Amino acid sequence: MEERSRILAVDDAPDNLILLDKLLKRQGFEVINAGSGRECLSKVATDPPDLILLDVAMPEMDGFETLKHLKENELSKVIPVIILTANSKDAGSIEHGFSLGADEYLTKPIDQEELIARVRSILRAVKAEHEIEQVKADFQSMLVHDLRSPLSVITGVLELGVNGEFDQNPVEMKEFMNNALNTSQKMLGLINDILDVAKLEAGKLELNKQPNDLNAVVSSAVARLKILAREKGITLTVEEDHDIPVIELDSGKMDQVVTNLVTNAIKFTPKDGKITIRTYMKHFDHEIPGLGGDYAAFDVEDSGVGIPSDDIPMIFDRYRQARNSRTAVQKGTGLGLTIVKRVTETHGGKVFVESSLGKGTKFTVVIPVGKDEAESGS
Ligand SMILES: Nc1ncnc2c1ncn2[C@@H]1O[C@H](COP(=O)(O)OP(=O)(O)OP(=O)(O)O)[C@@H](O)[C@H]1O
Ligand SMILES: [Mg+2]
Repeated sequence: MEERSRILAVDDAPDNLILLDKLLKRQGFEVINAGSGRECLSKVATDPPDLILLDVAMPEMDGFETLKHLKENELSKVIPVIILTANSKDAGSIEHGFSLGADEYLTKPIDQEELIARVRSILRAVKAEHEIEQVKADFQSMLVHDLRSPLSVITGVLELGVNGEFDQNPVEMKEFMNNALNTSQKMLGLINDILDVAKLEAGKLELNKQPNDLNAVVSSAVARLKILAREKGITLTVEEDHDIPVIELDSGKMDQVVTNLVTNAIKFTPKDGKITIRTYMKHFDHEIPGLGGDYAAFDVEDSGVGIPSDDIPMIFDRYRQARNSRTAVQKGTGLGLTIVKRVTETHGGKVFVESSLGKGTKFTVVIPVGKDEAESGS
């Protein structure tokens, strides 16, 4: 996967360079060579590599000095460096290398397998870090957009009011006010979601568990969403199993779970589709790790667009949306399922998903019945 990564090998001994060049090229890397510290710096400036292998003992500018220059420069300081030292006993010089910002050191004579393993693991770590940064950057720009556009709607309405635009027209004023109210409620919802996720991730969410009727929680959330479904011509059906015992639930948080799942189902199901919410009892015998005993369960099944199977593992990650979400009319933030998963797991339960592209999706939430099964959530 990091096949085409470019590695700069720096050594004053041509034989060593030839050896490194051969070894790395055989592993599919692209290799650049430099015979001195100066040449290293100039090559990095014109053609920055993904990783540098840096010999310490070189005339004129040695490896440490070269490293210092690399780390002083904004552009080159992010490039990982492995230093190559001939002196395995010299702990002081290794320490020195690390303090200057080296990522790894290897002693000569080079153990080929070890060198390749280190190179690969550093490149992998760098790649993972880049991916995380990308997700964060994407989220930030999206968040700014998501919060700025509703706020400009609200500001616009307030400005009209202050300027007396509605003085003669209370009917119009009410219409605009309603619009602003809806918009600010959406914003508040988004901010609450963000705070919830932060709390859930810090393990600071306190569940207020009480004996509750799962059917009641499900049906009241669904009742609220009926209008939304009707507007899209979607049939929403609830099938309740009335033999479900009372279970320990935080009903407000579980309401959020149902609401998020049903909202998604509505969002990702085209006009005239069908959504079924079904409650039932389920037994596990540890065929799935961590699940044993009786569980109260519910499905939210839709006849919607489905989720590409490659995307399924990441939809529960915060701010992540599957490729299918481009087809959705209303765009979201990608927090809904993170909340669903975390809240369910804090109740000691689990969320499952099955999906078939173009046919539909079924989410299943299971919550343990009986306290012994549940991990203490508070
Ligand atoms: N029922 C569903 N059918 C098809 N795709 C779904 C369904 N539910 C979730 N997804 C996919 O999973 C992604 C993540 O869902 P999630 O609820 O976390 O975010 P969202 O709905 O996009 O935004 P938010 O819930 O924060 O408003 C969605 O963007 C969508 O790609
Ligand atoms: Mg959602």
